[in-house]
Amino acid sequence: MPNLPLPARDLLYLLAAVLFIVGLKMLGSARTARRGNLLSAFAMLLAVVTALVAEHIVDWPYIIVGLIVGGVVGVVAARKVQMTAMPQMVALFNGTGGLASVLVAYSEYVVRDNRAAELTATAGTRLEAFHQALPLDVSITVVLSLLIGAVTFSGSLIAWAKLQGVMRGAPITFKGQKYLNGLLLAACLGLLVAFVFMPNWQLFLLIVIAVALILGVTSVIPIGGADMPVVIALLNSYSGLAAAATGFVLHNMVLIVSGALVGASGIILTQLMCVAMNRSLANVLFAAVGTDDGGGAGGVDRPAVTGYTPEDVAIILDGAQSVVIVPGYGLAVAQAQHVLHDVAQSLIKRGIKVRYAIHPVAGRMPGHMNVLLAEANVSYDLLLEMDEINDDFPETDVAMVIGANDVVNPAARTKKDSPLYGMPILNVDQAHTVMIFKRSLAAGFAGEGNDLFYDPKTMMIFGDAKKTITELSRILKG
Ligand code: TAP
Repeated sequence: MPNLPLPARDLLYLLAAVLFIVGLKMLGSARTARRGNLLSAFAMLLAVVTALVAEHIVDWPYIIVGLIVGGVVGVVAARKVQMTAMPQMVALFNGTGGLASVLVAYSEYVVRDNRAAELTATAGTRLEAFHQALPLDVSITVVLSLLIGAVTFSGSLIAWAKLQGVMRGAPITFKGQKYLNGLLLAACLGLLVAFVFMPNWQLFLLIVIAVALILGVTSVIPIGGADMPVVIALLNSYSGLAAAATGFVLHNMVLIVSGALVGASGIILTQLMCVAMNRSLANVLFAAVGTDDGGGAGGVDRPAVTGYTPEDVAIILDGAQSVVIVPGYGLAVAQAQHVLHDVAQSLIKRGIKVRYAIHPVAGRMPGHMNVLLAEANVSYDLLLEMDEINDDFPETDVAMVIGANDVVNPAARTKKDSPLYGMPILNVDQAHTVMIFKRSLAAGFAGEGNDLFYDPKTMMIFGDAKKTITELSRILKG
């Protein structure tokens, strides 16, 4: 296979980088997100093929086998994984990104180690040969790749295990944990400095990898289940930084650019999620907030409430003129989005004004509700962000809350010791009637009981949302 001339390689890399940026921009709107995703995937293919042809790194059979195995795993994972398990899948992808950076940076060190052996005769000393084979920029970025990549790998595995229920989701803390983490980080940075002076000491690199793997574990275990999606966005950012560092090791422009884009978008997403929950990143990382599964018996010692039926709901909806639907995590669990769309269509046909209110952290990942409702072909025009709809609740006849809990919990306004305190919520309690579709009085992800269930204007419709909404749809159509 002939090598690509360098200008052609650089132009193709530049094209891939531009396509990444345009693709990312398109992800910002629900209308263009699907095309943005495809465009970015194409850019990645272009970057990979260009790198393979231009750099002539390994034998083609290995590359083809790698492409097929990786492609099959990616397609199967993307098709099989449930929407609600998406954060776990992203965690695994981040982890493999981190691991790839570790492997690539380490193998580049081995290549340069061989080069140093060849240079020893002319360089005088073995150390001088290493300094020539591993200039300062390469030795620093090799260690950074290993450090960030290994933290990302082990941290992502812990995040996956917590979300998958393989290990306890609640924060795992012990005395002196923060100091230990600080110490581990300081040790890695000390090793980085030592390695710059003595790049012939391969053992330094192995110790960095081991310490960074421990650091990944000890920095993620104190984070509670409810905060895990934020950590996954942060680890996503780390995986980008590790890739960018590896790009510097290899002097590969497109890897630097794509890694920097992932690093920047991951940190922006982390920040957006923290703002939406009214928490600082430090609070998410160090406050050890959260419970095992986010559930729990939030209302166990309160009086029992009356359960209403879909027939009761249909009667109230008969007299309504405006309805706001609030979807939450339970809608995704129940997979009731299609049948909910049917209900909304029936209401619209009756001349009722129907809109959907989307809280920025409803569900378990950014944009979760938008994706869910898009699957059911709900028109984008009916979806309103929290700030756009919150003032309309006092004039709303019925707020239908489907599988949402924390995002409508008034404790966020009033209860100072609540993990939800300070988080902006959807003001459904200001609507004339509130209907809540869920299976029980259990708390939401943050483990906080919800007074709204006991409000006289609230109707609780207990049961799996798909079952109750299907029944409601049948009655409305009948
Ligand atoms: P949650 O507070 O988690 O409440 C979901 C409710 O759905 C549960 O109380 C559950 O009650 C109900 N449910 C579960 N399965 C159901 C089913 N089959 N049918 C009907 N109801 C069902 O959800 P939310 O209001 O969407 O809030 C999201 C939470 O995740 C917030 O605490 C948020 O901070 C956190 N979080 C989100 C993100 C992002 S980016 N979205 C990131 C980090 C954290 P029952 O068990 O009684 O049915």
